[in-house]
Amino acid sequence: MKAIVQDVYGNADVLRLADVDPPTPGPKDVLVRVHAAGVDRGAWHAMTGLPLIARAGFGPRRPRNPTPGMDLAGVVEAVGAEAGDLKVGDEVFGSGTSTWAEYALARPGKLARKPAHLSFEQAAALPTSACTARRMIGDAADGGQTLIIGAGGGVGSFAVLLATARGDRVTGVCSTGKVAAVRSIGADQVIDYTREPLTGRYELIVDVAGNRSLRELRALLTPRGRLMLAGGEDGGRWLGGMERSLRLFALAPFVKQRLGAPIVLTRRDVLETLTGVTPLIGEVHPLAEAPTAMARLAAGQITGKAVLTVDHS
Ligand SMILES: NC(=O)c1ccc[n+]([C@@H]2O[C@H](COP(=O)([O-])OP(=O)(O)OC[C@H]3O[C@@H](n4cnc5c(N)ncnc54)[C@H](OP(=O)(O)O)[C@@H]3O)[C@@H](O)[C@H]2O)c1
Repeated sequence: MKAIVQDVYGNADVLRLADVDPPTPGPKDVLVRVHAAGVDRGAWHAMTGLPLIARAGFGPRRPRNPTPGMDLAGVVEAVGAEAGDLKVGDEVFGSGTSTWAEYALARPGKLARKPAHLSFEQAAALPTSACTARRMIGDAADGGQTLIIGAGGGVGSFAVLLATARGDRVTGVCSTGKVAAVRSIGADQVIDYTREPLTGRYELIVDVAGNRSLRELRALLTPRGRLMLAGGEDGGRWLGGMERSLRLFALAPFVKQRLGAPIVLTRRDVLETLTGVTPLIGEVHPLAEAPTAMARLAAGQITGKAVLTVDHS
């Protein structure tokens, strides 16, 4: 089958299209014929091996797993004996491993049935980014004034969509080229961080981008407000965005504001709550153009989500 592979860590030109053996499902696996695959920062971490601490999982010298990609939408091709209730022919979406390929494996708990109203491209855009946004936003509104930093990206655009849908008054933060898109998905206000400082007081701040200090973020938060961090690429080479998260964990027990930086995994029950969301998809590329999509992601040029499509004809 065709798949994107990488032999070494590096920038987008380490990625190439190759012929590889299709994966063989174990008893707990679902084999999916991939129609579309999501592009996100997790794939960028796997491609670059950054931050360096992540190589403990990805492989110390070279990627253990040569094919990147976490999110997919497609059709069930085979189901392991212990892989639950999905059936051959079901249209599904969710997270698996090595999804930038014609076929990929996933666990049934990370797959949901794709509703007919979502295209494969839309469904593939959802899993990691929308599940993360869902967790960052939380179940109940914190009071109504919500600031989303990184609103023009994958997680941030879903955070805007989810928060506005429940009635928060959302201020999105992004660069100039993404202002119109962030407004178009419902943000009440948009701050172009390249032109103006962040101002206001918010009950909830979701920060998925940049490396603003905890001091600056907490000054924008109400006395009992909630700050949620999800990564950020601008920390040091060893720990990346985790540096700031570790400082947040050290501080959290001593302040009244609620501070969190959870690791979020895709789950079927959460996916099932997200099927009413129409993702902001900035671009769609055929699988062979994965290097272009990743180069654009790395440069911050993708508005919302990018998706790869797989042609089986
Ligand atoms: N904790 C978890 O489980 C989890 C799960 C998924 C993702 N993440 C992390 O969440 C982060 C975001 O992921 P993503 O997929 O949404 O990435 P993404 O699609 O690349 O979006 C990041 C956005 O941040 C914006 N940005 C960059 N610098 C900024 C700054 N200084 N201020 C405000 N915005 C800035 C970028 O565009 P503009 O600068 O053009 O506005 C871009 O749109 C990553 O660090 C990722 O690793 C964590």
